[in-house]
Amino acid sequence: MSKQTILVTGGLGFIGSHTVVELLNANFDVVVVDNLDNSRAQVLEGIRKTCGKDFTYYNCDTRNEQAMHDIFTQHPQTKGVIHFAAHKAVGESVDNPLKYYDNNIYGLVALLKQMKANSIKSMLFSSSCTVYGQPEQLPISETTPLKPAESPYGNTKKVGEDIVSDATKTGQFRSISLRYFNPVGAHPDGFIGELPIGVPQNLVPFVTQTAAGLRDKLSVFGNNYPTADGTAIRDYIHVVDLAKVHVKAITRLLNNEGPDYDVFNVGTGRGYSVLEVIQAFERVSGKSLPYTFADRRAGDVIEVYADASKAERELNWKAEKDIDDMMRDAWTFQQNILDKSHVLNTDNNA
Ligand code: NAD
Ligand code: WQD
Repeated sequence: MSKQTILVTGGLGFIGSHTVVELLNANFDVVVVDNLDNSRAQVLEGIRKTCGKDFTYYNCDTRNEQAMHDIFTQHPQTKGVIHFAAHKAVGESVDNPLKYYDNNIYGLVALLKQMKANSIKSMLFSSSCTVYGQPEQLPISETTPLKPAESPYGNTKKVGEDIVSDATKTGQFRSISLRYFNPVGAHPDGFIGELPIGVPQNLVPFVTQTAAGLRDKLSVFGNNYPTADGTAIRDYIHVVDLAKVHVKAITRLLNNEGPDYDVFNVGTGRGYSVLEVIQAFERVSGKSLPYTFADRRAGDVIEVYADASKAERELNWKAEKDIDDMMRDAWTFQQNILDKSHVLNTDNNA
């Protein structure tokens, strides 16, 4: 049987690059579309070194419908799309909401129009646990009621899910929204990982950059939450586990299994506090992490963790890596970035 092609938007980003590796390992042909807005061309080499396989790359904005049409025409074997391309900085979305609606909403609509024009039915949409806000009950299942979004970014995920679901009701698509909890870590080989541009907003890259001496100390946002140690709790998931669920989900769509539209939580089902994350990092790295307590960060929820049993039941997927794996692999990658002989370096577009 000839290979099936999957087009991956945002395939040079953090989650996209790891997913491209898993798709290639699962014997798909892959076409990546990424405009390098939040990634670097060196990731191409990182992916190739990780899996020893090649793929096609276009430096293209998914909002450019003519260019996307041309790419789909060039790759008539394309059977499905995994759509990662989006902006993701919560704070920036508050300051510049139109930038977020333009890329995350208009970009999604433009892509769906081109998929329809090229008769491509299957699509995975990157959603987020942010759609749940702080729920009344834990763990969070897919039927937990959604809360009004706390930020324009969060709203783009909520509205994005509605757009995908409504488009699917026409019978022209089959689609799945994957609600990621907190993706962290890196591929254990150390060639690809999270490469935030500028000062990291998320916990784990801030931890590894602090340990590497690039930041003075970590501020732990809030130590008076109603949790066992007073710090906030999240469901951190290893990015390689997360990448693997995409292969399961796109395969289900391509095989015409399951409903035309579905939603899955993607987490481990277990929450860790900020202090527990720091302890895990110190345990695996052997380094002591300088940190101080600071005020709570505006908009932060207290505690979230997933009920991920639906993905286990219906996609036969379960997170396999634990918090020590996440910290060890994130740290390995951080050290490789500092090694200037490594394929990836810290300069944007360098
Ligand atoms: P990322 O920024 O590392 O990757 C996104 C990639 O998309 C980047 O390489 C960027 O250059 C590219 N891109 C952005 N806009 C584009 C456009 N218009 N055309 C072409 N390429 C474009 O982000 P990530 O962490 O890998 O996240 C991937 C997806 O998962 C996003 O949709 C994000 O909202 C979602 N998500 C991320 C998290 C997280 O914590 N990382 C959590 C939940 C959901
Ligand atoms: C985790 C914990 C912070 C930085 C964000 C988005 C969410 C989703 C995932 C995309 C929190 C604490 C952090 C620091 C700290 N993304 N922290 N010091 O906020 O759970 O979720 O990423 O969809 O939409 O909001 O992740 O990594 O920023 O924070 O104490 O310097 O670490 O307060 O408790 P968050 P995070």
